[in-house]
Amino acid sequence: MSKRVAILISGGGSNMVSLCEDMVGDHPARPCLVLSNNPDAGGLAKAAARGIETVAIDHRPFGKDRAAFDAAVTDALERAEPDVICLAGFMRILTPEFTARWEGRMLNIHPSLLPKYKGLNTHARAIEAGDAEAGCSVHEVTAELDGGPILGQARVPILEGDTPDGLAARILPLEHKLYPAVLRRFIKGERELLNLS
Ligand code: GAR
Repeated sequence: MSKRVAILISGGGSNMVSLCEDMVGDHPARPCLVLSNNPDAGGLAKAAARGIETVAIDHRPFGKDRAAFDAAVTDALERAEPDVICLAGFMRILTPEFTARWEGRMLNIHPSLLPKYKGLNTHARAIEAGDAEAGCSVHEVTAELDGGPILGQARVPILEGDTPDGLAARILPLEHKLYPAVLRRFIKGERELLNLS
């Protein structure tokens, strides 16, 4: 039986597409659900076009009630019965109850070399700090934002005159390689750090 993977997105979903493109043939998993907090997320149509079940749960009517939003997401996830949940550009802060519910089964991709630059504006912060390199990380999700065990990283040099957008454009293709590679290993129970470069 294939493992079931639910993917949570907020935007264009390019990482979601790269995960789904990898989950074919002899891959041990298949996508079972793509869920977005943003009903207009471009990734929802891309998932539907691939025949994947999609759900949009708009976070806005929940206002500041993060617990109620997370409970609605948990309900949708429980119906989909995922073995693994991949956050792929899912731009919501999660409650400790939610992360505890799925701990050990939930991964995230973050556009920095964690533990550096948790949170937002990662590329600008790396350039401003004068770092020699930047990159992306896939990690297990725990209650600490962008703080769970790191499972894989890929890195690029920061070039003279680099802009945040230019750096993001060089890192995104690496994200598309790293996330599927880490997911394959995670499904087989491998947790040691994968260094792609
Ligand atoms: C990716 O660069 C991902 O690393 C980042 O959002 C982008 C989503 O792009 N995630 C975060 O910043 C999480 N804090 P995508 O929708 O095309 O996959």
